[in-house]
Amino acid sequence: MLRVNDVHFAYESKKLLNGISFELSKSEIVSLIGLSGSGKTTLFRLISGLISPDQGIILIDGQQLPEGAELITYMHQKDLLLPWRNVVENMLLFSELGRRNEKKNLENEALVLLERMGLKGCENLYPDELSGGMKQRVALARALLQNRPILLLDEPFGSLDVIVREELYGLLTDIRKNYGKTILLVTHDFRDALTLSDRILLLSEGRISHQFEIEESQKEQIEEEIRAKLQPAATF
Ligand SMILES: Nc1ncnc2c1ncn2[C@@H]1O[C@H](COP(=O)(O)OP(=O)(O)O)[C@@H](O)[C@H]1O
Ligand SMILES: [Mg+2]
Repeated sequence: MLRVNDVHFAYESKKLLNGISFELSKSEIVSLIGLSGSGKTTLFRLISGLISPDQGIILIDGQQLPEGAELITYMHQKDLLLPWRNVVENMLLFSELGRRNEKKNLENEALVLLERMGLKGCENLYPDELSGGMKQRVALARALLQNRPILLLDEPFGSLDVIVREELYGLLTDIRKNYGKTILLVTHDFRDALTLSDRILLLSEGRISHQFEIEESQKEQIEEEIRAKLQPAATF
């Protein structure tokens, strides 16, 4: 479904990505792990077409991303809700651009999604009336409302506490199961990656240095391996 082939990218003269290649199949959840500054967000910007590779190609269903193709939703690392818009208004923020004539339908879809996310009754609240976990769920619901086949989630669990994380784990699994989305997830926490994904890609020195298929029985071993591969950095 998504194919990244030999992608190179540099900001000015600083070479960052040096031949990135991988593929995602439909309805897969794949995590991308790498040290801070390794280029994860840059790779997302490339995949979503915000910037172009210096070399290499990115294909979706065999085609280069055509402009306006509406195939990818990119949920940014700092996915801020606008403080002067309430929950529903924030959710409509991106979708209403493309579907101006369908405002009423969109609103209804937004309400259904909010209920699914456990946010029924919150539709008229403003961001500063929501907890961190609720904001994150609104951002996810907004991403889903766009209803595109590929979701790129850049650190969607940010600094959430354990309980909220567990909730969101359930939601993401639900999103895959019930909406058939293909999800590429950036996380700096490999417990998130191990819990949620079918596969983990390790980004290191501008390349996908390793890939791990996640088997329930091998999670501990994989975690050890990833830790070892990311040495010597203690935190990331
Ligand atoms: N717009 C930009 N111009 C120049 N350098 C950038 C820009 N965006 C990011 N960088 C640099 O590229 C490197 C990778 O950034 P980024 O892709 O955000 O990494 P990650 O998301 O893995 O932490 C960092 O060193 C960062 O400072
Ligand atoms: Mg980043």
